[in-house]
Amino acid sequence: MAIFGGKKETETQLPENLPVHVGFIMDGNGRWAKKRGLPRSLGHVEGGKTFKKIMQYCKDIGIPYASFYVFSTENWKRPKAEIDGILGIMREYLDEVQQHLGDGVRAVFIGDKSVYPDDIREKMIKLENDTAHHRQLTVLLACNYGGRDEIARSAREIAKLVQNGELSPEDITEQTVADHLYTADFPDVDLVIRPSGELRLSNYLIWQCAYAEYYFTNVLWPDFTPQELDKALIDYASRGRRFGGV
Ligand code: IPE
Ligand code: IPE
Ligand code: MG
Repeated sequence: MAIFGGKKETETQLPENLPVHVGFIMDGNGRWAKKRGLPRSLGHVEGGKTFKKIMQYCKDIGIPYASFYVFSTENWKRPKAEIDGILGIMREYLDEVQQHLGDGVRAVFIGDKSVYPDDIREKMIKLENDTAHHRQLTVLLACNYGGRDEIARSAREIAKLVQNGELSPEDITEQTVADHLYTADFPDVDLVIRPSGELRLSNYLIWQCAYAEYYFTNVLWPDFTPQELDKALIDYASRGRRFGGV
């Protein structure tokens, strides 16, 4: 057992075999607000605060990759007022996030940015460019992201290479598909954490989670804390990952 350095917020002893990539499905904002008689949008504001805390904690304990499910390709089904609220939070957040991220954090958006209003898309690209040289923690922000959409895009790109005579179908491997995903440059997910009591992936990184471990908790995302993350990390460390071997 070792204690990891940095500004660690809790006293829990963390195991040595921490996951390289933790994927957070930030769920339960709406129920958090409903329980308090507040509008759902306030749940998203609170969820944004938890995101900042957990991102900082991942950096402090030395997790190199953390991904966060911000908005799915399916979330456009929600009422316009809720979507507008989420876009408003993103806008504000993108303005101040860089100072909050501090040194060492690289931000990368995964998902289709093209649907976002120009100002939001430009801020996303600026943030990616400004933080591209940081390596302590890479934060993958899944915005307008869907796992099936991502795999279909990969298939389309590969089909074009075949059509242009640059690749033959026999040479298409798992690696070829992976190389055309948004996450081509990043490791697969080791641990998925989903709060809010739902026991599903909801189209999150479905290719990259093929051999992930899962940790579910009833805590709602706005109530999720570094201590909750510690529990998930300790549980993860006790699992035997065999990847099909013995
Ligand atoms: C997750 O919280 C945030 C987004 C999907 C944008 P929800 O808004 O899904 O919260 P619940 O599941 O309704 O409680
Ligand atoms: C998944 O949560 C998407 C995000 C957390 C951004 P949802 O609340 O959309 O998932 P379902 O609808 O419960 O499967
Ligand atoms: Mg939900």
